[in-house]
Amino acid sequence: MTQKKAHLTVDGLDNPIELDVFEGSTGPDVVDVRSLTANGLFTYDPGFVSTASCESKITYIDGANGVLLHRGYPIEQLANEASFLETCFLLMNGELPNAEEKAEFEHIITNHTMVNEGIMQFFKGFQHDAHPMAILCSVVGALSAFYHDSLDISNETHRKISAHRLIAKMPTLAAMAYKHAIGQPFMYPRNDLSYSENFLYMMFATPCEDYKVNPVLAKAMDKIFILHADHEQNASTSTVRLSGSSGANPFACIASGIAALWGPAHGGANEAVLNMLNEIGSVDRIDEFVARAKDKNDPFRLMGFGHRVYKNFDPRAKVMKETCDQVLAELGIENDEQLAIAKRLEEIALQDEYFIEKKLYPNVDFYSGIILKAIGIPVEMFTVIFATGRTPGWIAHWHEMMSGPYKIGRPRQLYTGETKRDFVKVEDR
Ligand code: CMC
Repeated sequence: MTQKKAHLTVDGLDNPIELDVFEGSTGPDVVDVRSLTANGLFTYDPGFVSTASCESKITYIDGANGVLLHRGYPIEQLANEASFLETCFLLMNGELPNAEEKAEFEHIITNHTMVNEGIMQFFKGFQHDAHPMAILCSVVGALSAFYHDSLDISNETHRKISAHRLIAKMPTLAAMAYKHAIGQPFMYPRNDLSYSENFLYMMFATPCEDYKVNPVLAKAMDKIFILHADHEQNASTSTVRLSGSSGANPFACIASGIAALWGPAHGGANEAVLNMLNEIGSVDRIDEFVARAKDKNDPFRLMGFGHRVYKNFDPRAKVMKETCDQVLAELGIENDEQLAIAKRLEEIALQDEYFIEKKLYPNVDFYSGIILKAIGIPVEMFTVIFATGRTPGWIAHWHEMMSGPYKIGRPRQLYTGETKRDFVKVEDR
C-alpha cells in the first residue's frame, strides 16, 4: 500500500512541505508533523484538540458515535460481564485472562493489598480535614520511598511488580484516607474478599463488630471502577505519560496523574456534580441554574455535562444510570431530592437548544456521584474512587510507553512575549 501524504503550503516557502499521513486500525488519519521543525515551523494546538501525542493499542473512542473500546472490547460488555480485575489484566496485557491467568492475577493483587506499616505514620501528619485527594497524591508518591526494590524502570519484572503494587494498594490507601478523616482505625485488607468487596469493607467496617458487604453494592462499586478504568489520552493519562517520559519512577508518575485528575474539569467533576445538586437544592430552582449555565458572562457550568471527545452520548453514563437505578432500588431510596433534581436537570438539558447545539450530554460523572452517595461514600472521596478505578489505565499507558522507544515529552510554544531587551538597573526603572 502506498503511503498517504499531505502537502502543506506555507507563504514564503518555495515548495509545499510533504507530510506522511498514518492510518490507525480505526479512527481518523493522523498527519505526521515531526518534519516541520526542519522547515522552521511548529504546529499550534492549545488543549491538544487536534493532536495525537502518541501511538497506542489500549483504548479507542469514537466520540461521535458514543463508542468506547478497551483492547477492542466495548465498555458496556466489560461493565456487564467482566470484573474490574479482569479489566485491569486486559488493559495491561492486551488480552482477557484465561481461567488460570485470572486466578493467578487475582491472587497476586490480593497479596499486595497491605501497605508498609511506615505509611501509617504518614497519615498521622495530615490534619483530619485534609482533602483525601491531597492525601492520596502524597502517599502514592511516597510509595517510591518504600518500595525501592521495584523502581528500575528498564527492568520488565520491576515494572510489573510496581504495577501490581499500585493496583493492589490504591483501595487500601483510599480507604485509609477516609478512615483518617473520620478518626476511625484503619482496617487491614481481607484476602478472602474480592477487590471491590474488600474496598467497601476497608471503608465501612470497624474492629468493633462484624461487617457484611452488600453484594449489590460491591457489584456496583466494581462497575464504577470498570467504567473509570481507562479513557485513552485524557489529561491525567497524558500527565502520567509526560512524567514517565523523563524516566520518573511509576509511583511518582501515578502521583502526577492523581494531581491532574483532581481538577473539576476532569476527575473532580463527580464531586462538583453533587455540590452543584446541593446548591440547586430543589427542582423549582433548576431553570435558574440552566439559565446561568447558558449565560456567557457567568462562569457557571452544569457539572457532569459535556465532554471533549463524546459529542453524542457518553457510553459510560448509560451503564452508570442503570447501575444507579439498581443501587437505589436495593437501598430502597425512592424520594431522594438530589436524584429528582438530577433526573429533571438531565431532561431539561437534553431538550434545551443550547445543550443540543453544543452537543452537551450527561457524562460518566453525572450519575456516579448519586450512586456513591447512596452507598454512603462522602463527596470528598468521589475523585479518590475515580483515581482508584483509573490506576490500571494510567499504568497500562505508562507500561506501553516504557516498553517501546520513547522521547521525553517536550511541547513547543507560540512565543508572544517581549523580544530581547537590555536589563535596567532598579534605580532607573
Ligand atoms: N455547561 C454549560 N456550558 C458548557 C458546558 C457545561 N457543562 N460544557 C461546555 N459548555 C459550553 C462552553 O461554554 C463552550 O461554549 P462556547 O462555544 O459558546 O464558548 C462550548 O460548550 C464548548 O465547551 P469547551 O469548554 O470549549 O469544551 P471542552 O471540550 O474544552 O471541555 C469539558 C469539555 C468536559 C471540560 C466541559 O464540557 C466541562 O467543563 N464540563 C463540565 C465538567 C465535567 O463534567 N467534567 C467531566 C468530564 S467527564 C470525566 C472525565 O473524563 O474526566
